[in-house]
Amino acid sequence: MPSSSSPARLVVLVSGSGTNLQALLDACEDPAYGAQVVAVGADRHDIEGLRRADRAGVPTFVKQVRDYESRDNWDRVLTKAVAGFEPDLVVLAGFMKLVGPTFIEAFGGRTVNTHPALSPSFPGMSGPADALEYGVKVTGCTLFVVDAGVDTGPIVAQSAVPVLDDDDVDSLHERIKVAERAMLADNVGLMARVGFTITDRKVRFNR
Ligand code: GAR
Repeated sequence: MPSSSSPARLVVLVSGSGTNLQALLDACEDPAYGAQVVAVGADRHDIEGLRRADRAGVPTFVKQVRDYESRDNWDRVLTKAVAGFEPDLVVLAGFMKLVGPTFIEAFGGRTVNTHPALSPSFPGMSGPADALEYGVKVTGCTLFVVDAGVDTGPIVAQSAVPVLDDDDVDSLHERIKVAERAMLADNVGLMARVGFTITDRKVRFNR
Protein backbone atom coordinates (compact mmCIF):
# COMPACT_ATOMS: atom_id res chain seq x y z
CA MET A 1 0.00 0.00 0.00
CA PRO A 2 1.19 3.55 -0.63
CA SER A 3 2.77 5.90 1.84
CA SER A 4 0.60 8.13 4.01
CA SER A 5 1.23 11.06 1.68
CA SER A 6 -0.27 9.41 -1.41
CA PRO A 7 -3.73 7.85 -1.29
CA ALA A 8 -4.14 4.25 -2.40
CA ARG A 9 -5.32 3.97 -5.99
CA LEU A 10 -8.60 2.05 -6.34
CA VAL A 11 -10.00 0.65 -9.56
CA VAL A 12 -13.63 -0.36 -9.04
CA LEU A 13 -15.48 -2.80 -11.34
CA VAL A 14 -19.29 -2.68 -11.52
CA SER A 15 -22.18 -4.23 -13.44
CA GLY A 16 -25.24 -2.41 -12.15
CA SER A 17 -26.58 0.38 -10.01
CA GLY A 18 -23.26 1.05 -8.31
CA THR A 19 -24.47 2.00 -4.85
CA ASN A 20 -21.42 0.29 -3.36
CA LEU A 21 -19.23 2.27 -5.75
CA GLN A 22 -21.02 5.42 -4.57
CA ALA A 23 -20.17 4.57 -0.95
CA LEU A 24 -16.51 4.43 -1.94
CA LEU A 25 -16.69 7.64 -3.99
CA ASP A 26 -18.30 9.40 -1.02
CA ALA A 27 -15.72 8.05 1.44
CA CYS A 28 -12.86 9.13 -0.85
CA GLU A 29 -13.99 12.74 -0.61
CA ASP A 30 -12.36 12.83 2.82
CA PRO A 31 -8.57 13.13 2.37
CA ALA A 32 -8.11 11.21 5.64
CA TYR A 33 -9.78 8.17 4.04
CA GLY A 34 -6.47 7.30 2.37
CA ALA A 35 -7.76 6.17 -1.01
CA GLN A 36 -9.07 7.54 -4.27
CA VAL A 37 -11.05 5.89 -7.06
CA VAL A 38 -8.86 6.35 -10.15
CA ALA A 39 -11.07 4.44 -12.60
CA VAL A 40 -14.34 2.52 -12.87
CA GLY A 41 -14.67 -0.43 -15.24
CA ALA A 42 -17.76 -2.36 -16.29
CA ASP A 43 -18.75 -5.42 -18.30
CA ARG A 44 -21.73 -3.62 -19.86
CA HIS A 45 -22.73 -0.19 -21.13
CA ASP A 46 -25.48 2.12 -19.96
CA ILE A 47 -25.56 1.34 -16.25
CA GLU A 48 -26.00 3.67 -13.33
CA GLY A 49 -22.61 2.61 -11.95
CA LEU A 50 -20.89 4.19 -14.96
CA ARG A 51 -23.02 7.31 -14.66
CA ARG A 52 -22.01 7.64 -10.99
CA ALA A 53 -18.35 7.56 -12.07
CA ASP A 54 -19.01 10.15 -14.79
CA ARG A 55 -20.69 12.47 -12.29
CA ALA A 56 -17.68 12.12 -9.98
CA GLY A 57 -15.27 12.91 -12.84
CA VAL A 58 -13.70 9.44 -12.66
CA PRO A 59 -12.55 7.83 -15.95
CA THR A 60 -14.46 4.73 -17.08
CA PHE A 61 -13.98 1.80 -19.42
CA VAL A 62 -16.23 -1.02 -20.62
CA LYS A 63 -15.09 -4.52 -21.62
CA GLN A 64 -17.97 -6.77 -22.66
CA VAL A 65 -17.36 -10.52 -22.77
CA ARG A 66 -19.31 -10.83 -26.02
CA ASP A 67 -16.92 -8.49 -27.85
CA TYR A 68 -14.06 -11.01 -27.53
CA GLU A 69 -13.70 -14.41 -29.13
CA SER A 70 -13.03 -16.18 -25.87
CA ARG A 71 -13.44 -15.64 -22.16
CA ASP A 72 -9.63 -15.78 -21.83
CA ASN A 73 -9.22 -12.95 -24.34
CA TRP A 74 -11.76 -10.88 -22.42
CA ASP A 75 -9.87 -11.60 -19.21
CA ARG A 76 -6.59 -10.45 -20.77
CA VAL A 77 -8.15 -7.25 -22.14
CA LEU A 78 -9.83 -6.50 -18.80
CA THR A 79 -6.55 -7.09 -16.96
CA LYS A 80 -4.71 -4.71 -19.31
CA ALA A 81 -7.34 -2.01 -18.91
CA VAL A 82 -7.20 -2.24 -15.12
CA ALA A 83 -3.38 -2.35 -15.11
CA GLY A 84 -3.30 0.89 -17.10
CA PHE A 85 -4.60 2.69 -14.02
CA GLU A 86 -1.90 1.21 -11.75
CA PRO A 87 -4.21 0.24 -8.90
CA ASP A 88 -3.04 -0.58 -5.39
CA LEU A 89 -6.37 -2.31 -4.79
CA VAL A 90 -9.10 -3.51 -7.18
CA VAL A 91 -12.65 -3.55 -5.81
CA LEU A 92 -15.35 -5.70 -7.41
CA ALA A 93 -18.52 -3.90 -6.33
CA GLY A 94 -21.46 -5.74 -7.83
CA PHE A 95 -19.33 -6.97 -10.75
CA MET A 96 -21.32 -9.92 -12.11
CA LYS A 97 -18.47 -11.74 -13.82
CA LEU A 98 -15.81 -14.10 -12.57
CA VAL A 99 -12.39 -12.71 -13.34
CA GLY A 100 -10.03 -15.21 -14.97
CA PRO A 101 -6.50 -16.53 -14.48
CA THR A 102 -4.70 -13.59 -16.13
CA PHE A 103 -6.53 -11.17 -13.87
CA ILE A 104 -5.80 -13.26 -10.76
CA GLU A 105 -2.14 -13.48 -11.72
CA ALA A 106 -1.90 -9.70 -12.04
CA PHE A 107 -4.09 -8.62 -9.13
CA GLY A 108 -4.49 -11.66 -6.88
CA GLY A 109 -4.06 -10.75 -3.23
CA ARG A 110 -5.12 -7.17 -3.89
CA THR A 111 -8.58 -7.64 -5.39
CA VAL A 112 -11.59 -7.68 -3.08
CA ASN A 113 -15.19 -8.54 -3.82
CA THR A 114 -18.36 -7.87 -1.88
CA HIS A 115 -20.98 -10.62 -1.75
CA PRO A 116 -24.54 -10.32 -0.38
CA ALA A 117 -24.45 -13.39 1.90
CA LEU A 118 -22.47 -14.70 4.85
CA SER A 119 -19.79 -16.88 3.23
CA PRO A 120 -19.37 -19.77 2.94
CA SER A 121 -23.18 -19.92 2.67
CA PHE A 122 -24.95 -19.03 -0.57
CA PRO A 123 -22.13 -18.27 -3.04
CA GLY A 124 -22.93 -17.14 -6.57
CA MET A 125 -25.21 -14.68 -8.26
CA SER A 126 -28.34 -14.98 -6.10
CA GLY A 127 -27.20 -14.85 -2.46
CA PRO A 128 -30.28 -13.03 -1.07
CA ALA A 129 -32.75 -15.27 -2.95
CA ASP A 130 -30.91 -18.43 -1.90
CA ALA A 131 -30.85 -17.33 1.77
CA LEU A 132 -34.57 -16.54 1.67
CA GLU A 133 -35.37 -19.84 -0.02
CA TYR A 134 -33.36 -21.78 2.55
CA GLY A 135 -35.17 -20.06 5.41
CA VAL A 136 -32.18 -18.75 7.37
CA LYS A 137 -32.97 -16.19 10.07
CA VAL A 138 -29.69 -14.30 9.69
CA THR A 139 -27.80 -13.54 6.52
CA GLY A 140 -25.58 -10.60 5.59
CA CYS A 141 -22.61 -9.66 3.47
CA THR A 142 -19.00 -10.67 3.08
CA LEU A 143 -15.96 -8.78 1.85
CA PHE A 144 -13.28 -11.19 0.65
CA VAL A 145 -10.01 -11.30 -1.23
CA VAL A 146 -10.70 -12.77 -4.66
CA ASP A 147 -9.22 -16.15 -5.56
CA ALA A 148 -9.96 -18.52 -8.44
CA GLY A 149 -13.17 -19.87 -6.87
CA VAL A 150 -16.70 -18.52 -6.68
CA ASP A 151 -16.87 -16.36 -3.53
CA THR A 152 -14.32 -18.59 -1.80
CA GLY A 153 -11.45 -16.21 -1.03
CA PRO A 154 -10.07 -15.20 2.39
CA ILE A 155 -12.61 -13.16 4.34
CA VAL A 156 -11.82 -9.53 5.19
CA ALA A 157 -15.09 -8.64 6.93
CA GLN A 158 -18.67 -9.76 7.41
CA SER A 159 -21.80 -8.05 8.60
CA ALA A 160 -24.96 -9.84 9.78
CA VAL A 161 -28.47 -8.85 8.70
CA PRO A 162 -31.68 -10.40 10.11
CA VAL A 163 -34.19 -11.99 7.74
CA LEU A 164 -37.69 -10.73 8.53
CA ASP A 165 -40.86 -12.81 8.18
CA ASP A 166 -42.28 -10.57 5.47
CA ASP A 167 -39.07 -10.14 3.47
CA ASP A 168 -39.02 -10.72 -0.25
CA VAL A 169 -35.80 -10.89 -2.25
CA ASP A 170 -35.78 -7.16 -2.96
CA SER A 171 -36.45 -6.01 0.61
CA LEU A 172 -33.85 -8.41 1.98
CA HIS A 173 -31.24 -7.45 -0.62
CA GLU A 174 -31.82 -3.73 -0.03
CA ARG A 175 -31.31 -4.21 3.74
CA ILE A 176 -28.16 -6.25 3.08
CA LYS A 177 -26.86 -3.49 0.79
CA VAL A 178 -27.14 -0.90 3.57
CA ALA A 179 -24.82 -3.06 5.70
CA GLU A 180 -22.67 -3.88 2.68
CA ARG A 181 -21.94 -0.25 1.78
CA ALA A 182 -20.75 0.51 5.33
CA MET A 183 -18.68 -2.70 5.47
CA LEU A 184 -17.08 -1.95 2.12
CA ALA A 185 -16.21 1.68 2.79
CA ASP A 186 -14.91 0.97 6.31
CA ASN A 187 -12.73 -1.95 5.32
CA VAL A 188 -11.36 -0.70 2.01
CA GLY A 189 -10.30 2.44 3.87
CA LEU A 190 -8.53 0.35 6.49
CA MET A 191 -6.85 -1.79 3.83
CA ALA A 192 -5.63 1.39 2.16
CA ARG A 193 -4.44 3.10 5.34
CA VAL A 194 -2.82 0.32 7.34
CA GLY A 195 -2.38 -2.54 4.86
CA PHE A 196 -3.21 -6.18 5.50
CA THR A 197 -1.65 -9.62 5.63
CA ILE A 198 -3.11 -12.99 4.63
CA THR A 199 -1.86 -16.08 6.48
CA ASP A 200 -3.62 -19.46 6.18
CA ARG A 201 -6.76 -17.73 4.86
CA LYS A 202 -6.80 -15.32 7.82
CA VAL A 203 -6.86 -11.68 6.76
CA ARG A 204 -5.44 -9.33 9.37
CA PHE A 205 -4.96 -5.60 9.25
CA ASN A 206 -1.40 -4.40 9.91
CA ARG A 207 -2.14 -2.43 13.05
C1 GAR B 1 -24.38 -6.00 -4.16
O1 GAR B 1 -25.30 -6.50 -3.22
C2 GAR B 1 -23.27 -7.00 -4.38
O2 GAR B 1 -22.89 -7.69 -3.26
C3 GAR B 1 -23.90 -7.93 -5.38
O3 GAR B 1 -24.54 -7.07 -6.27
C4 GAR B 1 -25.00 -5.91 -5.56
C5 GAR B 1 -24.55 -4.70 -6.31
O4 GAR B 1 -25.20 -3.55 -5.86
N1 GAR B 1 -22.92 -8.75 -6.00
C6 GAR B 1 -23.09 -10.05 -6.22
O5 GAR B 1 -24.12 -10.63 -6.00
C7 GAR B 1 -21.89 -10.73 -6.83
N2 GAR B 1 -21.96 -12.14 -6.60
P1 GAR B 1 -24.73 -2.11 -6.35
O6 GAR B 1 -24.57 -2.18 -7.86
O7 GAR B 1 -25.85 -1.19 -5.96
O8 GAR B 1 -23.45 -1.78 -5.66
